[in-house]
Amino acid sequence: MIVATTRGELDSARDKLEGAVGVVLTMGALHDGHIALIRAARERSAQVLVTIFVNPLQFGPNEDFDRYPRTLDRDLAICAANGVDVVFAPDRAQMYPDGEPAVRVDPGPLGEILEGASRPGFFHGVLTVVLKLFHLTRPRLAFFGEKDYQQLALVRRMVRDTDLPVEIVGVPTVREPDGLALSSRNRYLSPAERQAALALSRALRAGAAAGRDGASAVLAAARAALPDPDYLALTAPDLGPPPPRHGSARLLVAARIGTTRLIDNAPVEL
Ligand code: PAF
Repeated sequence: MIVATTRGELDSARDKLEGAVGVVLTMGALHDGHIALIRAARERSAQVLVTIFVNPLQFGPNEDFDRYPRTLDRDLAICAANGVDVVFAPDRAQMYPDGEPAVRVDPGPLGEILEGASRPGFFHGVLTVVLKLFHLTRPRLAFFGEKDYQQLALVRRMVRDTDLPVEIVGVPTVREPDGLALSSRNRYLSPAERQAALALSRALRAGAAAGRDGASAVLAAARAALPDPDYLALTAPDLGPPPPRHGSARLLVAARIGTTRLIDNAPVEL
């Protein structure tokens, strides 16, 4: 496995890769959810490239940029054990050599709702770094977790709207046996908070089980399991309005558990 930390090292590693390159973009602190992305990438692409970069642009002033877990040695061992060909782990100066970029990707209206409403500028930061990493790594395929469902939808939209030559592949959320969706932020939770965090997946299951009774019943059932969410929303799979009567929908939730903000989502058939 080649580890590149500069643009020059990445370029020479990238030039040696033959066949379709699949990328997994991460902020490190890798867990089984990331390993599922790497496995999916290995199945669909000849070469797998993982990026590790905690992107300052997507953290608000009062968010957890400084305390976000940084576990590079462990992450590299996980990548090596899972057949990754190249890791690109740049520092801030490599990614943003001219300081904070003046030009950023505008996520449009889909970036203003849900996570975007709670975290202003978040998706500008995400899409800007994703676009830069696509240009630097030149992938044929890119694998994103459904756990960050709005991010996946927005990356798909950016690729379509700007004709980027990359196929976006969504990978189902990996959960603990008790339902908690894997997240690098779960490590902030105390044992009591971890118990409380189960309310998110419980709300999604309750909502999905009420699908046949219609949209209001889905939201009511989910809200009964999680009375004080940051948001609880039922949308179409592309995050537009949910189908008026029958069809596929997505239930998305965010909630604060202690000082940690968690998100989760699930498909619902109405
Ligand atoms: O999902 C993440 O870890 C990040 O948002 C991403 C896609 C690596 C961009 O920084």
